[in-house]
Amino acid sequence: MRRTILLWLRVTWRSWVLLAAAVLVIRAGAQQPARQAAAPRQADTARQTGEIDPTRIEGHEKCVDCHKTELRAWSASKHSTRAFDLLRAAPTALEYATKLGITPENIARKSLCVECHATPQHDAASGRVTVLPGVSCETCHNPSGGTDGWLNAHAVYGPPGTKREEESPAHYEERMARCREAGQLRTSDLYLLAKRCFSCHVVDDEKLAQAGHEHPKGDFELVEKSLGEVRHNFFIDPAKNAQASTLWIDPLRHSPGRSAAGRMRAMFVVGKLVDLETSLRSLATATKDDDFSSKMEKRISKAFAVLSEDLLAELKRTKLGELEQLVKDIQPTLEKLGADGFSTDDRRLYLEAAGKVARAATQFADRDGSELGELDELDLIPKGPFDGVFQP
Ligand code: HEC
Ligand code: HEC
Ligand code: HEC
Ligand code: HEC
Repeated sequence: MRRTILLWLRVTWRSWVLLAAAVLVIRAGAQQPARQAAAPRQADTARQTGEIDPTRIEGHEKCVDCHKTELRAWSASKHSTRAFDLLRAAPTALEYATKLGITPENIARKSLCVECHATPQHDAASGRVTVLPGVSCETCHNPSGGTDGWLNAHAVYGPPGTKREEESPAHYEERMARCREAGQLRTSDLYLLAKRCFSCHVVDDEKLAQAGHEHPKGDFELVEKSLGEVRHNFFIDPAKNAQASTLWIDPLRHSPGRSAAGRMRAMFVVGKLVDLETSLRSLATATKDDDFSSKMEKRISKAFAVLSEDLLAELKRTKLGELEQLVKDIQPTLEKLGADGFSTDDRRLYLEAAGKVARAATQFADRDGSELGELDELDLIPKGPFDGVFQP
């Protein structure tokens, strides 16, 4: 019974995301007709919600032929080595599960735990859903399988025999559109990728938090967390390795304004916005004023302070139009929250604010960061092992 309520809560939460995403698409469409025409985004709700379709999970084996370096990095990361084992080996896992009424044998097979610690896969032979251990390639880049899945179109450059270097610009556009429609999340989908991280790394579930499962211990700073073990955007030279991935800075396929430093700036701001959005949505699911709601309030005020004080006060406002507007729009809600505290009556306000943040973040995520050089001087962006050189 308790689990049913819990699942229901999560479903409701996801429905809200879905609804907000739909509103977002409609509104973005109204304002940016040109972009909308080039990049149809409505049909692909899975891209927006992060709902994983187990029948389309192929597993990382399908990527290994062409992505050896990415695979090597991922295999050494905790997403691969530890995320799943925690469910079976950590004493705390049993403790949380017991409080939530999840039986020990279900923790690592059939429970809400699996959503964040593993990847559900449908086994066609047995007709059953099993789990692949850990946070997999397709957890972040979206399920790829099926005849209309993105993997089929992903590395086909034209009529049989066409090499990647020979692909026509028109075919490239068509391929990108097909992969996008099939749900693939690429480097250019910064906002949706960031949402993916936060959907796991911030507890959005009051019951789970009350059972003692809290994370992250400190902040989840997107740049910092992307730079270390998770990083797999190696700057491979396409002239040396045509079978390797395109790169954010690949001059053949991306605008010349793009650089690793610019990417870090855009990522930093988008990370703060997504943190704010996630925390607002989580707050809206809280049922009472207690530890969970107050943690979410703290996250909200912290992220908002970076946006409204650090960035807007220090940087040239002309360069941050969408942020300036956003801060104006949501300030009344956040001031009310600060003054009156959390109230379930204000749920609608929190969700409205979250929707506005989502819209600003979507816009901001299209930037290449080249205009935001001043941000480097504020010393806000964490530095990591990001040297931007080819790693064999
Ligand atoms: C919303 C996603 C999410 C759900 C649902 C979830 N976890 Fe986690 N869990 C995480 C993340 C992310 C971490 C890593 C936290 C960090 O390192 O900052 C984690 C860490 C842990 C840890 C190690 C840290 C600790 O608290 O001991 C255990 C054990 C754990 N989870 C068990 C569970 C169990 C059992 C369930 C189901 C009752 C569950 N998790 C559900 C995302 C989730
Ligand atoms: C499906 C849920 C899920 C998603 C999506 C996800 N993570 Fe994780 N992440 C986890 C779990 C579970 C762990 C294991 C925690 C542990 O080992 O204590 C983890 C561990 C990590 C760690 C190592 C522990 C730490 O905090 O230093 C980093 C870094 C990290 N994730 C960053 C990211 C980034 C960046 C993204 C998005 C690009 C992301 N994660 C997306 C669930 C997720
Ligand atoms: C935790 C989420 C996560 C997981 C798991 C993950 N990726 Fe990624 N991937 C990302 C993000 C985020 C980026 C964009 C990174 C950036 O811009 O710095 C990315 C970028 C890439 C790129 C582009 C790299 C480049 O040089 O620009 C490739 C290729 C890729 N991923 C393949 C894979 C493969 C293959 C796997 C599994 C072995 C995998 N990813 C697992 C989140 C993830
Ligand atoms: C037949 C070879 C091949 C296979 C198999 C393959 N890829 Fe790729 N992938 C490529 C090539 C080549 C590129 C770079 C060219 C491009 O952008 O299309 C790439 C690029 C990518 C990118 C980066 C796109 C971007 O702009 O950020 C991601 C993410 C990615 N692959 C994920 C995967 C995942 C996940 C799998 C396994 C499910 C996989 N790929 C399987 C060849 C392949």
